[in-house]
Amino acid sequence: MEIQDREELLYQKLTSEEFMAERREAIRLVKEILWEWNINEQKQWKRMPLKAVEGRIKTPKSIVEKLKKKGYAISLKSVERLHDLAGVRAVCGYLDDVYRLREYILLYKGVQVIAQKDYIASPKKSGYQSLHLLLKTEAGLAELQIRTIAMDYWSNLEHPVIYKKGIYADEKVGKELIRYAGFLREVDGMLVALRLEREKRVK
Ligand code: GTP
Ligand code: MG
Repeated sequence: MEIQDREELLYQKLTSEEFMAERREAIRLVKEILWEWNINEQKQWKRMPLKAVEGRIKTPKSIVEKLKKKGYAISLKSVERLHDLAGVRAVCGYLDDVYRLREYILLYKGVQVIAQKDYIASPKKSGYQSLHLLLKTEAGLAELQIRTIAMDYWSNLEHPVIYKKGIYADEKVGKELIRYAGFLREVDGMLVALRLEREKRVK
């Protein structure tokens, strides 16, 4: 079969109702846990840590690009090797929220954490920070990215500039962005300290 035909066939599968429905369900299940945690936190600490939750199904275009980048064959079998077809992002107010959310998910009966990448403890070379959890849900895998508002702010601006292009188009820009990631990291630390201090005073 011609390469174009194979890609065309794959595109059809990746946009089929069956494929989309399972990914949608995985995203729904993960979001349900997140909102449940948020309400628990509100009850316990009188504060809602979740500032934003987004879910996305990886587009066929971006799936095929990734298969090519990884050197995999353009087939459904290779698509199964990708772990982020269903993706959810949880943006928290404070740095410590990120890890409390992880604890909650680790103890949660309905999902299994099958891999973790802590780019907060060890930021990527680009300066990128986030905690990634690979979750096994009843509707398949979902990648959950947990981060603070500051990390989200940084990565949303950096993403189109550098990450998607795969290279540092401009070395100076890259260096600057690493530096700004450092500033934001410091601010994240200070904000937690400030909140904890305030909470002590209120008690
Ligand atoms: P991908 O092939 O890019 O998915 O990498 P991976 O499967 O090795 O996983 P990794 O943990 O590196 O990254 C997964 C996701 O994290 C990406 O799809 C992005 O959403 C995000 N990410 C990783 N690195 C960066 C980065 O340097 N900048 C930004 N903005 N986002 C990043
Ligand atoms: Mg990935």
